[in-house]
Amino acid sequence: MKRALVTGITGQDGSYLAEFLLAKGYEVFGLVRRSSTESFERIQHIRDRVTLLQGDLLDENSLISALADSRPAEVYNLAAQSFVPASWNQPVLTGEFTALGATRLLEAIRIVDKSIRFYQASSSEMFGRVRETPQNEKTPFYPRSPYGVAKAYGHFITINYRESYDMFAVSGILFNHESPRRGLEFVSRKVTHAAARIKHGLQKELRLGNLDARRDWGFAGDYVEAMWKMLNQAEPIDYVISTGKSHQVRDLVRIAFGRVGIDPEKHVTIDPSLVRPAEVDLLMGDSSLARSRLGWEPRVDFEALVNMMVDADLAAIGAAR
Ligand code: NAP
Ligand code: GDD
Repeated sequence: MKRALVTGITGQDGSYLAEFLLAKGYEVFGLVRRSSTESFERIQHIRDRVTLLQGDLLDENSLISALADSRPAEVYNLAAQSFVPASWNQPVLTGEFTALGATRLLEAIRIVDKSIRFYQASSSEMFGRVRETPQNEKTPFYPRSPYGVAKAYGHFITINYRESYDMFAVSGILFNHESPRRGLEFVSRKVTHAAARIKHGLQKELRLGNLDARRDWGFAGDYVEAMWKMLNQAEPIDYVISTGKSHQVRDLVRIAFGRVGIDPEKHVTIDPSLVRPAEVDLLMGDSSLARSRLGWEPRVDFEALVNMMVDADLAAIGAAR
């Protein structure tokens, strides 16, 4: 039985990846940090099928112990401070988790077992003020947030360990991906959750920032498969993972409110405090390398994704009433 260690297993992607690896027959270990209240909601349904190990990206020894205890063939580094606006409030902590955390984990692998394959969760946020459209593996980075800067560090340190120590270390440059398990602060879930609450008569107003921003949104369940494929190739290569289609935040609002049959004009207001100090205006990825070499492609399109999220929020809110 192949073993895998997933950092960030309690997050959106961690929960889908753990499910995916279990279905592939892996023994799955997850790194979780101590907290006064457990945040295992997303992995509750597989809680008895995974082994959770205490550790933190801030603590090198805990990473070495987690590797020594789980002896994985593959490590997926999904843990991060992943919310872009929070990175302006906590730039140093974001760097500690999201940038240096990757180095700590790579160092732990180098010490415990250099043959472990390593996946780094890189991000389209690194493209920032984009140099070309669509963005591919060769597009230069121009990050526009402390989060994007930290991810660029994580990306290059992964390449550096691959080239310095001959380790199988790869980065997936993933464009935005969402699901019913998305955190409530990200715009997709904020909108679908609000549309469902307004439909149920529990909320009247939805405050948003920049409706003009464009993102290339895919489904998280599709994207975790690409992570696994990247670690199961003959060669360690970095890939862009995206749908290739870009939509505005206002399109997201239109589809989500359309699903519940409500006019968004009556509920959405613009809150200038939600506009970012520096915005990423347009992301659209070219994933042809992944499509040709990994045989990967997204299955869920934008409209189906938004509808899936609205339906899940409607059902969850309805059940809780
Ligand atoms: P998420 O839902 O915010 O999950 C983040 C995970 O990291 C949580 O499990 C969190 O644990 C854990 N974590 C945070 N700080 C930690 C620390 N110091 N030590 C150990 N664990 C820590 O993020 P996601 O959407 O699943 O994204 C997964 C990864 O992909 C992240 O690295 C993100 O930056 C990157 N990424 C995401 C997207 C996207 O669109 N979703 C796109 C590109 C890249 P707690 O439960 O304890 O908070
Ligand atoms: N969160 C949020 N809340 N975003 C808003 C809002 C709002 O009220 N109103 C407009 N937006 C706009 C943001 O300005 C941004 O342009 C866009 O919606 C998407 O915001 P998020 O959903 O917060 O995602 P993100 O693109 O900043 O970052 C996500 O994707 C990255 C990959 O490109 C995160 O998952 C990152 O971790 C990930 O790396």
